[in-house]
Amino acid sequence: MNIKAIKQGVLQAGQAVRKAVPSEGIILKEGRLNFVTAADLESERILKEAITKNFPDHQILSEETESHIEDVLAVEHLWVIDPIDGTSNFRYERGYSGISVGLVEKGEPVLGLIYDPFRDELFFAEKGKGAFLNGHPIRVDDKTELAKATVMTDNSYDSNGTKSNLEMLLKLNPTPWVLMRGSGVLAFCDIASGRADVYAHQYLKPWDNAAGFVIAKEAGAVIKGLEGEDVDFTASSLVVGNETLVEQFLEQIK
Ligand code: IPD
Ligand code: CA
Ligand code: CA
Repeated sequence: MNIKAIKQGVLQAGQAVRKAVPSEGIILKEGRLNFVTAADLESERILKEAITKNFPDHQILSEETESHIEDVLAVEHLWVIDPIDGTSNFRYERGYSGISVGLVEKGEPVLGLIYDPFRDELFFAEKGKGAFLNGHPIRVDDKTELAKATVMTDNSYDSNGTKSNLEMLLKLNPTPWVLMRGSGVLAFCDIASGRADVYAHQYLKPWDNAAGFVIAKEAGAVIKGLEGEDVDFTASSLVVGNETLVEQFLEQIK
C-alpha cells in the first residue's frame, strides 16, 4: 500500500491550510460558529485527489462532500477525511487545527494520519505497528488517578450539546483539570502522546474519529462508549484514555 503518497497528500493539504486566508470563502453551516472556509474545501480537494489517484477502487467519506454510502461499516476500503478539524480555531487563528485521514476496513480503522499544520506535527499509526509523532513512538500517560488527570471535552455546534458535555464533566468528583481546545482529532493525539489523559465527547462524527481511533489505540488507549460498551468509529459518544482512567471516568459519570 502506497502510504507515502497519502502522507504527502496530507502534508500538501497542510501547506495549503497554512497559507490560506482564514476569512476567505466562509459559508455558515447550521448552529453556532459552524463554518466551512475556502481552505476546508481546498484541503479536501487535495486529499481526495491523492486518494483517488493511488487507490481508485477505494471509497471516500469526507465531511464537506455529500455521501451516498449506505453502510459505512461494510465498506472494504473506506477513507474517512476531516479536511480541517477545528475550523473555528482556524477561522480565528488560534493555531490548533488538524487534518485527519483514516482508512477503515469493514468498520475497523486500520490507518490514521493527523497533521497539525501550525506545529508541523504529523501523527501516524497503522494497526499493530504502534503510533508515532514525526517518526517518534508515542504512548498514553500511565497516570492512575483521575483526580490528578487532565480531562478534555469540547463544544458542540448546538448549545445544548456543549451544556451536556459540561454537565458530564461536572459529575466528576473532584473536578479534574479540564481542557476544551476545539479540535477533536487533535484531542485524540493529545491523549495518544500523553499531553492530556482523558477525552470525552457526546457529539462526534465519523471523520472526527476514524484516524484518531487508530492513533489512540496504537498508543495504548482504550475507547469506550459512555456506558462502558465497545464502540466503532461512527459513535458520537465516547471516552478515550488509559484503561484505569477510563474505568474511573465511567464509574463517576454513572
Ligand atoms: C469539530 C471539532 C470540535 C468538536 C466538534 C467537531 P470541525 O469539528 O472537532 O472540537 O467539539 O464536535 O464538530 O467542525 O471543526 O471539523
Ligand atoms: Ca471539519
Ligand atoms: Ca471535525
